[in-house]
Amino acid sequence: MCSIKATLPLVAMAAAKFAMAASCDCYLIDGAYPTYYKSHGFWDFRSLSQYAGVPPVLDSIDANKNADFSSSYFNWESEFAQFWGPQNWDNGAEDFVNVNSYNNLYIEKSGDSTFMTMRTARLPKFQTSAEFESMDLLDHASIRMYSRTIGSPGACTAVFTYREANSLKDVQESDIEILTSDPKTSIQYTNQPSYLEDGTIIDGASNNISVSVPWNEWSTQRLDWTPGRTTWYINGDQTYTMTFQAPKDPSKVNFNAWSDGGDWTGKMPEGGVAYQQIQWIEILYNVVDKASCSSLCSIDADGAKPGSPVKI
Ligand SMILES: *[C@@H]1O[C@H](CO)[C@@H](O)[C@H](O)[C@H]1NC(C)=O
Repeated sequence: MCSIKATLPLVAMAAAKFAMAASCDCYLIDGAYPTYYKSHGFWDFRSLSQYAGVPPVLDSIDANKNADFSSSYFNWESEFAQFWGPQNWDNGAEDFVNVNSYNNLYIEKSGDSTFMTMRTARLPKFQTSAEFESMDLLDHASIRMYSRTIGSPGACTAVFTYREANSLKDVQESDIEILTSDPKTSIQYTNQPSYLEDGTIIDGASNNISVSVPWNEWSTQRLDWTPGRTTWYINGDQTYTMTFQAPKDPSKVNFNAWSDGGDWTGKMPEGGVAYQQIQWIEILYNVVDKASCSSLCSIDADGAKPGSPVKI
């Protein structure tokens, strides 16, 4: 009896805490296009020194394809992999292979803190790259990452929504792309397709936007996929919005650092390396009707911190 009585307050406290954390059943984004989402996800890479370590670049395509995870943070049993799937396939290109490797996705230490690094490196005959994508299709999303891109020219670092299709005209995709050969205040915002198999260019799909925050500085990159529109932000300020070719149907969310060795990214010099480094990722996903919300929260309102929504 005594011990039960003694534990009751603790149980009650734990329940109250849980109720607070679980009390959001919808999330409203700020900005010019308010939209309600059902679900919230947050991945914090800032305090993961137990997983930190930079694996050396592997110098064959097979070694890259077959490489193990850099740490158990990313393996298939991990919490990370409940939502995100690390990729290890190559594009099979005859002229210049780009191979995704688990070896290029790792936790890196910096002072007392850590971040996730996505690495892409140029070997004499191929490019080795990093990619992960959501395991599930999401029905619209507001995606934010606190990140920077550094390193050699010739890479593309990106976050994007992606709905695969057999022909390019049917692909649905909205991108943030940073080209390391571009000026550091140029960023590429695209609703794909931007071209078709026969070489036709789709005018208005790709936008080369001049921004005030250089991409080699830590900043919050945000892509809002709302019904009928995509809107981009850096550090909370809207940088671009478009309705043209906005994705419609449930899509994956992908992150990558890669190079096509040619037209889009340019060729990275042999021995070159570039990195997309991310301190945290926060996303809201799956749109809902306002009418179905009883406990509304925000990740943008005053008092909200990354990973800690507030009730509004
Ligand atoms: C984007 O614009 C800048 C100049 O503002 C230019 O230097 C750069 O080459 C352009 N990038 C692409 C991919 O067109």
